[in-house]
Amino acid sequence: MTKKVYVSRRMPPVAMEALGKICEYDLNPEDRNATREELAYALKNYAAVVTMLSDQADAELIAQAGPNLKLIANYAVGFNNIDVKAANARGIYVSNTPDVLTDATADLGWALLFAAARRVIEGDNIVRTSRMGGGPEYLLGSDITGKTLGIVGAGRIGSNFAKKGALGFGMKVLYYGRHNSPALDEIGAKLVSLDELLAESDYVSLHCPLTPDTRHLIGAEQLAKMKHSAILINTARGPVVDEKALVSALKNGTIAAAGLDVYEHEPDVEPELKTLSNVVLMPHVGSATLGTRTNMGLMVVRNVEAVLAGNTPPNEVKL
Ligand code: GLV
Ligand code: GLV
Repeated sequence: MTKKVYVSRRMPPVAMEALGKICEYDLNPEDRNATREELAYALKNYAAVVTMLSDQADAELIAQAGPNLKLIANYAVGFNNIDVKAANARGIYVSNTPDVLTDATADLGWALLFAAARRVIEGDNIVRTSRMGGGPEYLLGSDITGKTLGIVGAGRIGSNFAKKGALGFGMKVLYYGRHNSPALDEIGAKLVSLDELLAESDYVSLHCPLTPDTRHLIGAEQLAKMKHSAILINTARGPVVDEKALVSALKNGTIAAAGLDVYEHEPDVEPELKTLSNVVLMPHVGSATLGTRTNMGLMVVRNVEAVLAGNTPPNEVKL
């Protein structure tokens, strides 16, 4: 008999143990992303499938899902890899992992901001590979404290990131989003147009989900509206930025620097980005701490448990 739950890639031990206590599962035995064929098989043959962001549960695969499939539990807060409408239309729930990764993802955003502003990677490289220089104008970076921070997308992560800037570094916060955010209004942040945010901010940090509306939200035209001294941070989704336009902007001095955790065509990265010293590159690891990845797994388990018991998943995603 097939087991009820399929896990497309191993989660941290505490989460796997918790899953083992509530159901029998099959786990992708390989330490790699599931292939499209493996995902298709899982959707056909299991009651719940735990997916990673790299698993594309699109309309075509969902159309072939088996009659027993009740839940696609995404091991991520974002769910642009799943056709939620197609799943819901077939009575399949989709769940995600909100809240537990908010701090970790915002913190990684700060790591990128600091590294880009103070040229941490360049400095590290100098110390390792040559003799350090010096003098009043040596390895100059950008001030952070008291500067203006522009937040695009004022959800949980954007608001958390902004609070850290306002409370920790006395930054003035501007934000752009579809709604006003009480959490941001509380710290004196100001809701502005995207154009105003781009023109005024010393740091622009992206926190919006990837939707048809946000694809290439930041392209050549928007980059040109930023200050030449500005730094762009993206811990949201790669396709929110036109990556080729960003390469040009970084090369031409349209903006000063960038810090990226996400890319337009993951796992591929625009080759020229890798040649630039004014960009800090991380491999999509916003939520990658053991505590956070464990809590995401425990949240997945609670959603699987609810659905196997015939209930609505607590972290249901609906469009
Ligand atoms: C990571 O990108 C997530 O959506 O959890
Ligand atoms: C995601 O958790 C967000 O709302 O930023």
